[in-house]
Amino acid sequence: AVELSLRPRYLAEYIGQNQIKENLKIYIEAAKMRKEALDHVLLYGPPGLGKTTLANIIANELGVNLRTTSGPAIERPGDLAALLTNLQEGDVLFIDEIHRLHRTVEEVLYPAMEDFALDIMIGKGPSARSVRLDLPPFTLVGATTRAGLLSAPLRDRFGVVSRLEFYAQDELSFIVSRTADILGIPLTGDASDEIALRSRGTPRIANRLMKRVRDFAQVQGDGMVTPEITREALHRLQVDPMGLDLIDHKMLRAMIMSFRGGPVGVDTIAATIGEESQTIEDVYEPYLLQIGFLQRTPRGRVVTPAAYAHLGLPMPERN
Ligand code: ADE
Repeated sequence: AVELSLRPRYLAEYIGQNQIKENLKIYIEAAKMRKEALDHVLLYGPPGLGKTTLANIIANELGVNLRTTSGPAIERPGDLAALLTNLQEGDVLFIDEIHRLHRTVEEVLYPAMEDFALDIMIGKGPSARSVRLDLPPFTLVGATTRAGLLSAPLRDRFGVVSRLEFYAQDELSFIVSRTADILGIPLTGDASDEIALRSRGTPRIANRLMKRVRDFAQVQGDGMVTPEITREALHRLQVDPMGLDLIDHKMLRAMIMSFRGGPVGVDTIAATIGEESQTIEDVYEPYLLQIGFLQRTPRGRVVTPAAYAHLGLPMPERN
């Protein structure tokens, strides 16, 4: 229950993503004034930035039910049909990892999104025919790590497309303080800043680190989360002063040691360090690009001088 209540339930409690928040507020209010379902919303961006939280908030703000599922969980068209026919007017259907929908399921979704209709095939062979079933107007909220993974026809059917950004330092610090408040964790302001600094712009990471630091504060200290305890705990968690973890280090070092800092393709990096390409592209690379430790070029990824400096490694001679 505590876990759930950590998530903000209304836009007013949601910290950061100000542009998205302000715009959603208008769209939600307008839909309510017209007594219509909100247009379909696509939320995309790296994991842990609040896509699921926003889907929940949209339903709460609209005052409607939320049904939650995910792309891979909908195995057959009939599974989607069951979900859609159980919606009430104006409800929100949230499909996480929507880029992983099966092609056959996706095709059922098109008329559902566009015309609030379900085309069902009855029978087989020459006597087979299609019947059209009306659905209540609803709002589809889709979430994905990268909009580019969606097929164009699906992407085109969303009226609102929002990209979530990494959070600023002060926003993360605010989120950490809020979480500490809810969990009853005593913490100094400097400690929340320190956690924020090392959370890769990501609330999910900030909240997770906060809980681990609390463990150290309780066992090794008097429970108070101080900057000293925080630094000690994060050192033990192998989270460096910029928030980079073991895999970030492995990746950057492999690129430097084996490929002179690049350019090198993602698949090659993935094979070298034994991670999935998709994980590198969705989870690790976006933040390293954001802080300017990696650059994308047509010939592959390149480690920047800033990354060499952070790792304390000499740049290779170029000749
Ligand atoms: N907890 C996690 N993400 C949050 C956010 N964006 N605002 C408030 N609390 C949060």
